[in-house]
Amino acid sequence: MTTLTLEPKKMHDRVFELLMAHHKWFEASLPLIASENIPSIAVREAIISDFGNRYAEGWTGERVYAGCRYIDQVEQVCIDLAKALFRVEFADVRPISGVCANLVAYTTFTNPGDTMMALAIPAGGHISMGRKDFGGTAGSVRGLDVEYFPFDVDEMNIDVDATAKKVKKLVSDGKKMSLGMFGGSVLPFPQPVKELSEVFHDNNASVCYDAAHVAGLVAGGQFQDPMHEGADAMTASTHKTLPGPQGGLIISKSEHGENIKRATFPGNTSNHHLHHLAGKAIMFAEMMAYGREYTSQIVKNSRALADKLNEDGLKVLGEKKGFTKSHVIIADITAYGDGKTLEKKLEDSNIILNRNLLPYDVKMGRHFEAPGGIRCGVSEVTRLGMKEPQMREIADLIARVVVKGEQGERIRADVASLKKSFNMIHYAFGSSREAYEYIKLR
Ligand SMILES: Cc1ncc(COP(=O)(O)O)c(C=O)c1O
Repeated sequence: MTTLTLEPKKMHDRVFELLMAHHKWFEASLPLIASENIPSIAVREAIISDFGNRYAEGWTGERVYAGCRYIDQVEQVCIDLAKALFRVEFADVRPISGVCANLVAYTTFTNPGDTMMALAIPAGGHISMGRKDFGGTAGSVRGLDVEYFPFDVDEMNIDVDATAKKVKKLVSDGKKMSLGMFGGSVLPFPQPVKELSEVFHDNNASVCYDAAHVAGLVAGGQFQDPMHEGADAMTASTHKTLPGPQGGLIISKSEHGENIKRATFPGNTSNHHLHHLAGKAIMFAEMMAYGREYTSQIVKNSRALADKLNEDGLKVLGEKKGFTKSHVIIADITAYGDGKTLEKKLEDSNIILNRNLLPYDVKMGRHFEAPGGIRCGVSEVTRLGMKEPQMREIADLIARVVVKGEQGERIRADVASLKKSFNMIHYAFGSSREAYEYIKLR
């Protein structure tokens, strides 16, 4: 039994102290985690509404619960905006996360025991696409047998010819290939969806693209457009390059709509977090208005950051292709230490990014605890109004820690001074509140 060290009111107050300390820390830090972003103040307002206390199982107009008069209308606005933003026939905005959206895709397009092809984690795949032996969602929850896309490290991309051969071989060996799952967590370059969709379709497999990371860039017209390159469906998180509340989304051709609806409810959700649904609608409206401008700046920023990091001595992967065409950069830092140690040193300097496996780490005997890489994303700093000159300053700050071994108060002071002029949210409908302001309701 746990014995509490503080009385309940003191513990209650302690939680608020920690929340406020977190806000202060992020206000003075450089948030560079590629899977994160900061939503607008408008989205934050939506997510503290009473919608967060309600249930609305089922589809709009066909609910299993009463009390949905306004919820139905907001959900319909959200669906209409998602369809317009991604230029598609069908959108289900109910999945509560990217993993949940992937489970909806697996439920729609596969049966347990089928084979799915996806990227291996060191090559940029996500745990939700992973095999059962290490607890990956596709294997352990849906019972899929996962085969990996052949990957070309120089190109930092899927090898088209080797993949076509591998799919045909697996099918001729008797595997029931039912899904080609494109996309991933480290996606600096568009993948060959156009080149490979036919291969999967010819072998009776469907094609899905996990755009958890790049959905904002897809919406803004700055990356590939999987739904118009042959994919049957696309899943996403709503809080990475899309700057919304944490949540998920699945879009598809209309012919898959009914199956996706059933796969979402009752298949993979009950309550679908209606406050976040309202927040998604607000964010989609922001993206309709400002998405192109915001995402084109993301791509310029990440290229500027990658160029300068490479110049400053980090080995940024994908050099042959110009380092990156998305929000994400991956660098080999093995000349200076391991990913875990450097992640910690950077965090102590208020530069928040994460360690990452490199495509060749496992072969070199490295492990995800202390991998050879670090990953940065520029979505959040772009949203704060930073442009190419600030990216060069950020690269220098990272290099002072990673390459020169500087640490501590001097770096933290320089980070805070850079951050001072960038504490408002851009590419949204306007608010006088600062980005990291702690909004007290009590
Ligand atoms: C490719 C990919 N898919 C799915 C997810 C899971 O998204 P969520 O955290 O919204 O469940 C992630 C998370 O980073 C991801 O990178």
